Amino acid sequence: MPVVFQNRKFHLYNGSMSYVIEISRDNDLLNVYFGKYVDSDEINTVYPGNRSWQCYKSMEGGCYQLGLLPCEYPTAASPDFRAPAFEAEVPSGVNTFQFKYKDYEIISGKPALEGLPAVYAESGDSVQTLKIITADEYAGIEIDLFYTVFDRFNAVCRHSEIKNIGKDGIKIKNAQSVSLDFPNGAYEYIHFPGDWAREKHISRAAVTVGTQGFETRCGASSHAENPFMIFGDRGMNENYGNVYGISLIYSGNHSFKIECISDILPRVQAGINPFMFSYCLAPGETFVTPEAVITYSANGIGEMSRTFHRLYRTRLCRGKYRDLPRPVLVNNWEGTYFNFDRKRLLDIADEAAKIGIELFVLDDGWFGRRNDDRSSLGDWFANEEKLGGSLGSLAEEINRRGLKFGLWFEPEMISEDSALYRAHPDWAVSVPGKKPLLSRSQLVLDYTKPQVRDYIVKTVSDVLSGANIEYVKWDKNRMISEPYSDSLPPERQGEFYHRYILGVYDVLERITSAFPDVLFESCSGGGGRNDPGMLYYMPQTWISDDTDAVERLYIQYGSSFVYPMSSVGAHVSAVPNHQTGRITSLSMRGTVAMNGAFGYELDLAKVSGDEKETMRAQVSFYKKNRGIVNDGDYYRLLSPYETDYSAWMYVSGDQSRALLYFAAAALTPNPIPIRIKLQGLDGDRLYTVNHETYTGRTLMNYGVYVAVNPWNNNFIYEIEGL
Ligand code: GLA
Repeated sequence: MPVVFQNRKFHLYNGSMSYVIEISRDNDLLNVYFGKYVDSDEINTVYPGNRSWQCYKSMEGGCYQLGLLPCEYPTAASPDFRAPAFEAEVPSGVNTFQFKYKDYEIISGKPALEGLPAVYAESGDSVQTLKIITADEYAGIEIDLFYTVFDRFNAVCRHSEIKNIGKDGIKIKNAQSVSLDFPNGAYEYIHFPGDWAREKHISRAAVTVGTQGFETRCGASSHAENPFMIFGDRGMNENYGNVYGISLIYSGNHSFKIECISDILPRVQAGINPFMFSYCLAPGETFVTPEAVITYSANGIGEMSRTFHRLYRTRLCRGKYRDLPRPVLVNNWEGTYFNFDRKRLLDIADEAAKIGIELFVLDDGWFGRRNDDRSSLGDWFANEEKLGGSLGSLAEEINRRGLKFGLWFEPEMISEDSALYRAHPDWAVSVPGKKPLLSRSQLVLDYTKPQVRDYIVKTVSDVLSGANIEYVKWDKNRMISEPYSDSLPPERQGEFYHRYILGVYDVLERITSAFPDVLFESCSGGGGRNDPGMLYYMPQTWISDDTDAVERLYIQYGSSFVYPMSSVGAHVSAVPNHQTGRITSLSMRGTVAMNGAFGYELDLAKVSGDEKETMRAQVSFYKKNRGIVNDGDYYRLLSPYETDYSAWMYVSGDQSRALLYFAAAALTPNPIPIRIKLQGLDGDRLYTVNHETYTGRTLMNYGVYVAVNPWNNNFIYEIEGL
């Protein structure tokens, strides 16, 4: 059983991990331990001596100073002066809180989070959820803390539920999903900043005294900072160190903070960004925070990633495609942009079929009067003149060629030049009396309004039922400025950003459950909303508009720290590359794109015969191996940040097969051969690599030699166990 309560201590554990919470002498919840498995009856909080500037309470057992103790869910203006996880305004103006332990419940399984995406349990899973009830009776607020532990994942899923148990309304100003106080030590943290077309680059820094972290304020998880942080021992690497991965299952404004005051324990928090956030709670109402998943690895960053991959692939992603290898697709965007007609599309489909591609995706420009990015968002009606007939007939023609048909939408947006805007200008997010600001010539639909959501669910559903559409790309190409809704009273405007995201989740839940056979891929100008919240509804993401193979080495490397590669959309595009102008070989582009949900994004009708032969070989190689890309264990071997070379591998669950990938971002003249040490194999087993046979031990300790040169700057080796 993963949760035990004994001697005023909760011990959440599985064979390799422990999380211990203690009820203190004064009924505060203490965050005693999170790490490798321990015997919880042997660990106890040591209460520090008196420190003069801290508040104290004299009580049996000596002076009690909460501000020096590791707190589980610290609250504002309590005796703890460090960063609070909870702040609120109550009608009395007494906005200081002291939440005390009240009760607990151990729930078998994992309850869903109302209206929010979250990790789920399936029958047969060994999983328990601990609910600890705390209350500040004076303020009339109860906070329930939830912790779920699975037997087979080194992870704790946390969220809190704030309940108004008083007689008057309150206003929440800050409610973090997780707060953790780590013991003193030397730590580092890693996060994944970026921008459009260069998402999830890596930033690593030592944790120092002061406040550090990152946040977003544009209404989305954003290109700028992914909602994910690695916190661990200084010097942690792929295979060394105590490592904690903190991932927020949320697609809106997020905040990740580390606070160190003097030598007092470093505090790490993650949750909804308090920036422009407030939430009114009437008596009897409950506010649910998003879920944070914290994984623990005693063996470095690689194991942390593999825990996230397994957990998110199997217990966050849902639907028919969760466990299925993804179809190889061709997308017409970089091939044609807006400039296509039926013949041009069918020419691409003809060539795609010959190569073995399985899915044709029609991107932007098929609806309304959209021939550039300035019009028609919101008018989800096929432009039959441009398409040379109905969508249904186009889908049929594509299907006749042996391909599935998929379609692009951008359902959260509205163009000023659209029938929808002319009919409902009040449906666009805007501030009264001011002309709304444009971004990519478009505005955002106000998803806080139920009538807007109903309209979108209906129009998108009509398109999906009107033709044989088996894939949807759900795009979102701008961020939210001027957060305001005329549907909310002034005191509730602080709810806008959060309610917008709840509205998106509502629409996605309705559409994805009504069309369970459709494969959904999320997108936001590439990776502007590549987060676990989206993965709950859509099992893959177009993670970047940058299709340059070298740039992708960095972007996909960053993604691999938390997101399963089965969720990473990756395409071969034309050269010179449209984002960087770089020319890379077709082989290199294929190697890099086969590290994920593989596809092509170029005009296949313009490709030479030799190139088509290479593509045919790539598609057939990928089809043979995509099972392992979908659910194999992922090992990063060479970092593009540390060398000119990238290498990674997938190992099947039973260690009987593996794939070794190598790609050189740059070459120097006369390079000496390099040795790549493999990981994850069975040391005693024999494997063939490149027609030679070795033990797993040799491959992992000695490695394989690679002579890198301009003709051998990328490859994928199949490794077969004998
Ligand atoms: C975004 C997407 C692209 C493409 C265009 C279409 O930029 O990321 O892949 O769909 O929109 O406008």
